[in-house]
Amino acid sequence: MNHFQYQGDQLFAEDVAVKDIVASVGSPVYIYSRATLVRHFKAMDDAFATLPHTICYSVKANSNLAVLRTFINLGGGVDIVSGGELYRALQAGADPAQIVYSGVGKRDDEIEYALHTGILMFNVESEQELERIDVIAGRLGKRAGIAIRVNPDVDPETHPYITTGLKKAKFGINIERALEQYGRAKEMANLEILGVDCHIGSQLTKVSPFVDAIRKLKRLISGVREMGIDLKYLDLGGGLGIQYHDEDPPLPSDYGTSITEETQDLGLHLIFEPGRNLVGNAGILVGTCLYTKRGEEKNFVIVDAGMNDLARPALYGSFHGVQAVQKNQDGVVTADIVGPICESGDFLAKDREVPNFKVGDLVAFMSAGAYGFTMSSNYNSRPRVAEVMVSGDRFEIVREREQVEDLVRGEKIPSFLN
Ligand code: LLP
Repeated sequence: MNHFQYQGDQLFAEDVAVKDIVASVGSPVYIYSRATLVRHFKAMDDAFATLPHTICYSVKANSNLAVLRTFINLGGGVDIVSGGELYRALQAGADPAQIVYSGVGKRDDEIEYALHTGILMFNVESEQELERIDVIAGRLGKRAGIAIRVNPDVDPETHPYITTGLKKAKFGINIERALEQYGRAKEMANLEILGVDCHIGSQLTKVSPFVDAIRKLKRLISGVREMGIDLKYLDLGGGLGIQYHDEDPPLPSDYGTSITEETQDLGLHLIFEPGRNLVGNAGILVGTCLYTKRGEEKNFVIVDAGMNDLARPALYGSFHGVQAVQKNQDGVVTADIVGPICESGDFLAKDREVPNFKVGDLVAFMSAGAYGFTMSSNYNSRPRVAEVMVSGDRFEIVREREQVEDLVRGEKIPSFLN
């Protein structure tokens, strides 16, 4: 359920007509609904109400400060994967004691930054990273909280690019070697072992892979405890899917019930790192129809938003619903909706039955709140678009549209070319 609904023939974001936002902010624009963000966070939080837990929102899905602040105001922590995300989280007011840091390639300066900040824990993804964190913490006179990110070798049955928990993935430490690594970590003076972590993939539409992973982790947890290590946290990552098209993902409450059943006797504080589930359906991208082309083989609707603004269709063949911001009575057409970028992969919808858009019509791409703006780029020297948040009948720009001057900021022509 989200708050992008029609009132008459007009698409609204909560109580604001989308066309009014575009009239004021321009096109293309990302629009986020605060009420939807709050609803999704609460659904996830309530799903684990019977157990001690923290929802550490995964910043990579949508890192806008306004989105981060929305969740922080609800008591959320954050999951980060870079120094840049840590900076954003702190700017948004995150409590360092509720920050977990994942990622296979943490640099020394990023580890130092996180240690100075006093984050809760590093989710360690390799044997070498354990040592690196120990050495850096020693140098700074700190103790680093850690969990080992375990790769449980379960198939989440999702897109291969977003499958992370299989043996062949670059992520985490193989579950068969994890116990040995806990043993090593125990001997490292500057590490405080706090937990066990895993994240098996994204856009999961079943609960069973999560349950399979937990069952494997439970054996590891007993082994770690037998070594005399006092575990406090079990971080189960993110990954719960959403409906883009005809998927039927479990509700957060179903996910909560299954996971609660599996973990309630462990005496551990649960951490979750949801990204997409909280923000995906809370955002849309709105563009404008620039041209229409009736081809012999295909019809094209050319819009002012492209793969640089929303990369998911080009990258993963992902489906985003297409809706008219103002419904017309002109019927439907089967078309590709494409952007202005000079690549054939620049499509936002393919062979889709869509409203018969005319030049100037506004086109809404649904479920674009997750991995939309965060994966956007300046390709073809296109300034990144504005972001707006709506709350009830109010809306504000939460990121200004870039200007052409922003495109060359930091660039210079070297003296030998003058
Ligand atoms: N935790 C870790 C360690 C992760 O790697 C991820 C996502 C998450 C949490 C959040 O997962 P979520 O709840 O959003 O599924 N760009 C792709 C998705 C990449 C996901 C990467 N990791 C897409 O647009 O579908």
